[in-house]
Amino acid sequence: MRKPMMAGNWKMNKTIDEAVALAQDIKHAVNDINSVDRVVCPPFVDLPAVAEVLKGSNIATGAQNMHWAANGAYTGEVSPSMLKGLATYVILGHSERRQYFAETDETVNKKTKAALEAGLTPIVCIGESLEQNERGETQSFVSGQVRGALDGISAEQVQQLVLAYEPIWAIGTGRAATAQQANDICGGVVRATVAELYGKAVAENVRVLYGGSTNDKNIREIMAQPDIDGALIGGAALKVESYAEMVRGTAEVYA
Ligand code: PGA
Repeated sequence: MRKPMMAGNWKMNKTIDEAVALAQDIKHAVNDINSVDRVVCPPFVDLPAVAEVLKGSNIATGAQNMHWAANGAYTGEVSPSMLKGLATYVILGHSERRQYFAETDETVNKKTKAALEAGLTPIVCIGESLEQNERGETQSFVSGQVRGALDGISAEQVQQLVLAYEPIWAIGTGRAATAQQANDICGGVVRATVAELYGKAVAENVRVLYGGSTNDKNIREIMAQPDIDGALIGGAALKVESYAEMVRGTAEVYA
């Protein structure tokens, strides 16, 4: 019922020329695999060129961040309306933004509301650190992040957004959560928190992704889990071979 999604977070990688080449390769490789939502999220400066390459294709674009204000004196920032026409998705509250750029549950919440109002689909990231994990705080912390991000958001709106559980200790480390661990948090904490807030029926409609060292080897096992609806992919999304194989693997699991 929930359509699977493979979203590539290119982070601060790829010049415009490199981004165009990768987008073209991805289009050729996976444009016809329509049982999976395919999303690529390049850096801002690459977005116009990538959007042009993917115009008329079945592959969507997303931004990696966004300010909540409509415009104004916010040097270096990009507003929701500036992304319209360039992106349909926007990653919000990635742990790297929380860690290095001081994003908080409150700013993530403001951004989430602004994205929904602008007609963009937020991919809201949550996830605990290694220390929190080791102290046994994963459930309370992640649940708190979900509540913070969704504060004041209606039941109708919550079904339009995507949540991505990304344990910080699994990001870029080559040490993914086990499929079982990932499913336990995606279902037992993330979706369960949405159910507490909005009811079970609403929670069943919300897509929950897992992110953190996913690749073409582990994606099938991860996607076979009932509460994981996709992946937010970092490193493995930067090469067409691994990204395309992850899309194909997901299509097979859902066939
Ligand atoms: P990774 O990154 O796949 O390279 O671990 C995931 C992410 O940060 O979204």
